[in-house]
Amino acid sequence: MKQEEKSPVLHRDWAAYYQAVAGRAPRPTLLAALTKFEIEESLTSHPFAIDIGCGDGRDTVELLRRGWRVLGIDGEAEAINRLRNRLDVDLKLLETRIQRFEFVTLPESVDLVNASFSLPFCPPANFSQLWQKIGNCLREGGRFCGHFFGDRDSWSIQTSLTFLTRQQLTALFQNDWEIEVFEEEEHLGITPLGEDRYWHIFHIVARLRVDS
Ligand SMILES: C[S@@+](CC[C@H](N)C(=O)[O-])C[C@H]1O[C@@H](n2cnc3c(N)ncnc32)[C@H](O)[C@@H]1O
Repeated sequence: MKQEEKSPVLHRDWAAYYQAVAGRAPRPTLLAALTKFEIEESLTSHPFAIDIGCGDGRDTVELLRRGWRVLGIDGEAEAINRLRNRLDVDLKLLETRIQRFEFVTLPESVDLVNASFSLPFCPPANFSQLWQKIGNCLREGGRFCGHFFGDRDSWSIQTSLTFLTRQQLTALFQNDWEIEVFEEEEHLGITPLGEDRYWHIFHIVARLRVDS
């Protein structure tokens, strides 16, 4: 049995993770959400995004490059330090916070919440409140893009992370959202840190209904 399988808490070496993924391209879910906004032509000159669980800024820098104002939030000081010290970051448009999902406060009238591979790390007891805060902070017609881990993921033995069945995920988006991208990925693979893993991931882009 591997060490991580003995523990109900998944300990991640986030500094090693940031190092391993440094310089990678923005996530396709973010690019898909940005394309949807472009097609609509619905944005102001400096639209506003929250990148929640931003890590070292793989997606944040793409938003900044396109003229977005961004609030980058992450629980790890190392992530925010790395983000603020990137050579490709525009600090004029960037605000950052070191804040855990469990206690996060979000501003209002946000155009986009991006959560790439981050929300699953919210403890299950805090997840539904976090999801409510995300829905409440968006303006009508705003978007969410990001990822969720499915119940067949090999990490789902970890009780400190949130895993959702397809049905539970669909229920999250049932009333107030139009789902624009819904992709389910499931296969054996390895993590950026070289660990074996069975991935079960949902890739989502969704728009908050105008009348919600
Ligand atoms: C897998 S990384 C993803 C980083 C980035 N979004 C990306 O796509 O590369 C998950 C991020 O979530 C952050 N995180 C994990 N648990 C957290 C928590 N409870 N509160 C706030 N951030 C957390 C980690 O520090 C890490 O930067």
